[in-house]
Amino acid sequence: MRRFTGSGRPLEHVLLNRIGVIHDLWYKNAVIYCLNVETFLDSNGDGIGDFVGLTSRLDYLAGLGVTCLWLLPFYPSPNKDDGYDVADYYGVHPRAGTFGDFVEFMNHAQQLGLRVIVDLVINHSSNQHPWFKRARSDPRSPFRQYYVWSKRRPKGWNKGMVFPGVQRATWTWDPVAREYYFHRFYDFQPDLDAHNPAVKEELMRVMGFWLQLGVSGFRMDAVPFLIERKGSDVRPQRDYELLHDMRDFLQWRCRDAIMLAEANVPPDESMQYFGDHGDRLQMMLNFWVNQRMFYTLATADTAPLKHALRATYARPPAAQWGMFLRTHDELDLGRLTPGQRAAVFDAFAPEPDMQLYNRGIRRRLAPMLKNDRRRLELANSLMFTLPGTPILRYGDEIGMGDDLGLPERYAARTPMQWSADRHGGFSTAPRILRRAVADPIYGYQRVNVADQRRDSNSLLNWTERIIRTRKECPEISWGDWKILPVQPREVLAMRYQWNGRALIAVHNFADRPCAVRLRAEGPEGHTLTNLLSQEESAADASGRHLLHLEPYGYRWLRVGRLDRPLRGSS
Ligand code: NOJ
Ligand code: CA
Repeated sequence: MRRFTGSGRPLEHVLLNRIGVIHDLWYKNAVIYCLNVETFLDSNGDGIGDFVGLTSRLDYLAGLGVTCLWLLPFYPSPNKDDGYDVADYYGVHPRAGTFGDFVEFMNHAQQLGLRVIVDLVINHSSNQHPWFKRARSDPRSPFRQYYVWSKRRPKGWNKGMVFPGVQRATWTWDPVAREYYFHRFYDFQPDLDAHNPAVKEELMRVMGFWLQLGVSGFRMDAVPFLIERKGSDVRPQRDYELLHDMRDFLQWRCRDAIMLAEANVPPDESMQYFGDHGDRLQMMLNFWVNQRMFYTLATADTAPLKHALRATYARPPAAQWGMFLRTHDELDLGRLTPGQRAAVFDAFAPEPDMQLYNRGIRRRLAPMLKNDRRRLELANSLMFTLPGTPILRYGDEIGMGDDLGLPERYAARTPMQWSADRHGGFSTAPRILRRAVADPIYGYQRVNVADQRRDSNSLLNWTERIIRTRKECPEISWGDWKILPVQPREVLAMRYQWNGRALIAVHNFADRPCAVRLRAEGPEGHTLTNLLSQEESAADASGRHLLHLEPYGYRWLRVGRLDRPLRGSS
């Protein structure tokens, strides 16, 4: 199936310029890197990462090849949920730096061609936000209606918690207001009512503010909850039109800015977030595929992953999936069947302490995969070749570990490991915000940027190479794709086609070698050129290629030769 525009012409024809490279819709072929300023690099020795520190490492990020940074919340906040409890939407947390530092950072990023998107956390504020303080203390204040109240304890007061086991209710009594208030997340995160026109206006103002400072868009927190109609006697219906209004506003202000939604919803519902005509959000994190990727990594059974890929195949032409392995949250397995979830827990989080909220895993990727380089490459190679835009989590490029001694999701939010120096070179302070991982396998003494930079076989250099190659394969993010029928079942082979070019990616999830026969298809299908090594394959008399894959082996294969001109006939 090709994707067509309103005029009936395939999208790629409309957007191609003469040399066949697309400059618009930058997010389609981007490589996103997410990080928290406070755990990246501390420049002034107070133990907390800051914008000056991050700015000094922009060369590192540009060198790695990523094209867009997603910054986790850095706003003034009591930091009871790592910044997802915002006390001022128009500020920079003083410990992360000043506005001057932020603008310098933005300038430096722009010089290096790096885009920046920031977290927009507007489903709820902190209870320390001046809006909530005024709302609770004065029933006549206009801010009262910014939030969601009930005089009596609503029936479902202990239902719908996002953090079961840690969070006890969704409606909590406020002794100051003398009413119950609604909070989908922790009780210090009262929900805002985005359907109140005043809140909506504020939301747009916040977006306009950061756009004016040069950001290229937003990662939007908790979108399904944001757009829900809220109230003790209201049916919790989702109002997707709010997303349309936000999109309009976004693009009036900044034509190429995007919104990347955090919405862990089933595939058919996802279309509502993109909008039938692609008129709502440009990007969504693909949680559906993410959960099945881990199932496949755990069991080598590729069937649910194939199913998930097909289920998320359809999307409006300009829309795009964000493909990721790990984020700052737990690996949420809530949408697998109980049997599938148990298999992933068995393989990757056998101890109860590794699991969280009855649905997820609070570990980093490397420890889950037992630090097996073959499996780390396999997982990353898969993520980089799934049809969408790859999103890399800081530290995964060097295979950082976690610290299960830290509570909840903080286990996987430890400081970036720059060197073998104290605190992994993150800070010169005697004590730091969150201790660096120091165990014998994943500790900064063994896993750090400085060492890996100088080792040509390091995971860091592998990641740099794979990013470079990925950026040269726009057919993965732009093209049409299909799953090739191959044996054995533990192998996933995908073929992407775009603008007369084609590519095949093959992944073997089994711990044993295998031989795979496949047809490359197309006029140049008699040759396959490995993009990551000197290998070339010629088809046999029947037109099929025979590939020998190692245990956990993978291949990125250009259909045809490398030296062909960029643009062919499509
Ligand atoms: C999703 C964020 O990713 C998570 O870290 C946070 O706790 C909740 N939303 C609440 O903002
Ligand atoms: Ca600092």
